[in-house]
Amino acid sequence: MTYPLGLQLRGRKVLVVGGGPVAARRIPALLDDGALVTVVAPYACEDISERAAAGSLQWLQREYVPADLDGAWLVLSHSGTPAVEDRVAADADAARVWCVKGGDHQASRAWVPAVAKVDDVSVAVNTNGDPKRAAALRDGVAAALDSGELPLRRHRRSPSSEGAVGSVALVGGGPADAGLITTRGRRLLAMADVVVADRLGPRALIPGLGADVEVIEVGKLPGNHPVPQDEINRILVEQALLGNRVVRLKGGDPYVLGRGGEEEAYCRDHGVPVEVVPGVTSAISVPAAAGIPVTHRGVAKGFSVITGHEDITQQAGLIPVGSDHTLVLLMGVSLLPKSVASLISGGRQPSTPVAIIENGWMDSQRVTTGTLETIAGLAAVRGVKSPAVIVVGDVVTLSPHWPTSHLPLSVEINTE
Ligand SMILES: C[S@@+](CC[C@H](N)C(=O)[O-])C[C@H]1O[C@@H](n2cnc3c(N)ncnc32)[C@H](O)[C@@H]1O
Repeated sequence: MTYPLGLQLRGRKVLVVGGGPVAARRIPALLDDGALVTVVAPYACEDISERAAAGSLQWLQREYVPADLDGAWLVLSHSGTPAVEDRVAADADAARVWCVKGGDHQASRAWVPAVAKVDDVSVAVNTNGDPKRAAALRDGVAAALDSGELPLRRHRRSPSSEGAVGSVALVGGGPADAGLITTRGRRLLAMADVVVADRLGPRALIPGLGADVEVIEVGKLPGNHPVPQDEINRILVEQALLGNRVVRLKGGDPYVLGRGGEEEAYCRDHGVPVEVVPGVTSAISVPAAAGIPVTHRGVAKGFSVITGHEDITQQAGLIPVGSDHTLVLLMGVSLLPKSVASLISGGRQPSTPVAIIENGWMDSQRVTTGTLETIAGLAAVRGVKSPAVIVVGDVVTLSPHWPTSHLPLSVEINTE
């Protein structure tokens, strides 16, 4: 067994014997820790020779001699030749220098553990001389840290941190499915003290937050009214100024019709460090959930995303009217009749295919297809409700929800 220890190598000489791939793999971590690395080897792989040429390490292009150990605090012997390894280990022992002896874990005085590094945390795994097992464990730990399954740290306010400003992360949570948040977003969520949550996004992650995490709901949920944007901004800054790590968990992407820019600017203006974590926008991913690619070779070369929450006449006039250009409307359910009328009067063919996808990525996802001419009536019959993404253009016909007999149009009865 070994005694686990962390070494502070900054400014200390570390000797690496050997210039092969194993030596090359060990060197970056030594350099990252500020070690003064000397490599002794008649030949070295490109990685080492390039670092030597760049001045980040010293390469003595010859065989090892005992004097190489002079001034060294640590030696890593990875020459690949057992006799050299034996000699270096014996010399190091005599000189009282810790030695990692390559190729012979049992005879080695020191071992390099398998290390997972995430942010400022490193987890070192030693498995009594079984590097494959150590690497497998390390990978498991790294994945759990990355995904946020293993919270890196809770940063609750403490008397000693009084006066310290916290931070805000505007995290795009994706459309609804908890698997569609980014790794970074998931990790920040696992480190949050306060989560300011919308009604859309990966809601399933909220019950899994620690009991000490304060969740502030600002979206319209049953039993509560949506919080006005000014108030959301104020909450973000207030919580961060209390020293908290705040995650603003948003649906989709923060910058796509999500007011992420406003929240970011407000935080900056109030001296709060803020970062934006992009998310999977509903504008692309919700059509995808219904089998609709927003572009497709030979069908659509581009797409536009606009809000359907207001009169779209002016905006729609700036967008190509051909059905080979996909138009995606967010927040478009309540004004759908008005919007389709504007699109037709703006020059789009009444027969242009349209799909409405409600509750994308949720168990309750439902797709309604029609054309510009019929979709408003169909939506009324079906009682289509928000949240929904409306897609206009020929790409809709690529969806398995688009009935082959869909001419002129029909309501899809057999829903998901
Ligand atoms: C205020 S916008 C926010 C958009 C978000 N920033 C994004 O990138 O997806 C809210 C609109 O996004 C759409 N939306 C978001 N999530 C959805 C989902 N899971 N299913 C259907 N529509 C969704 C709806 O059009 C909804 O009205």
